[in-house]
Amino acid sequence: MITIKNAREIKLMRQSNALVALILDELHDMIKPGVNAYDLNDRAEAIIRAHNAESAFKGYEMDDLDPYEYSICSSINSEIVHGYSTKDKILQNGDIIGIDVGVKLNGFCGDGARTFAVGTVSKEVQFLLDCTKKALENAIAQCTPGNRVGDISAAIEKTAMDNGIHVAEWLTGHGIGRMLHEDPIIPNVGKKGTGPMLKPGMTISIEPMFNIGTSKAVEKEWVYYTMDGSSSAHFENTVLITESEPEILTKTRSS
Ligand code: MF3
Ligand code: CO
Repeated sequence: MITIKNAREIKLMRQSNALVALILDELHDMIKPGVNAYDLNDRAEAIIRAHNAESAFKGYEMDDLDPYEYSICSSINSEIVHGYSTKDKILQNGDIIGIDVGVKLNGFCGDGARTFAVGTVSKEVQFLLDCTKKALENAIAQCTPGNRVGDISAAIEKTAMDNGIHVAEWLTGHGIGRMLHEDPIIPNVGKKGTGPMLKPGMTISIEPMFNIGTSKAVEKEWVYYTMDGSSSAHFENTVLITESEPEILTKTRSS
């Protein structure tokens, strides 16, 4: 069931997603060679606590896996999503790190992700970041009432195809509200004019995940990796469908 948020619920969605954006900006400032992903997780937890919120990821259950143990996901290089925030993950110059933040505040969820360059990255990797970010922008441009989920998916797929980049298989975006994952599923590939219609009051998390070498993914204990070891990038914004232009609820400094 796709939920339509009323004015009060929209206000709460704005607040939870603004907290996500604030955390992404704070963590962005910490990204440099030598920092470990655990410290990013710690900092995120402190901010979440200070706002009387909770992580929407910690304790999340999926299939027969143990509940997810971390407050944020930090996915480095060939990790597509759901990477762990451990102490031994020390950032090196040239790495990329996808930071995914999900919170629950006053009963409503926020969700957003950015992939950051650590120091100086190769041209090829920078191109991957630029394309993935562009795909998210192109997707959001489709978020007008009367358009359909397939218009979003097609815009993401086209951005990858036009640039010779690969869409990570299986992984999708989603509706969001009281639950982190609500209907509809927002695939990163699809056909224009198909799928559920977008209506004012819907809130959706759009999250293109692109890989340099292959669309093939492997999953091991939560973490998705590219099958060929090539780098992967992930950008996610939560968006409110309005009567006119979409409203990005997770707006950060960088996008
Ligand atoms: N943004 C991701 C998603 O919507 C993060 C989920 S992490 C999990 O799937 F731990 F909650 F699974
Ligand atoms: Co999400």
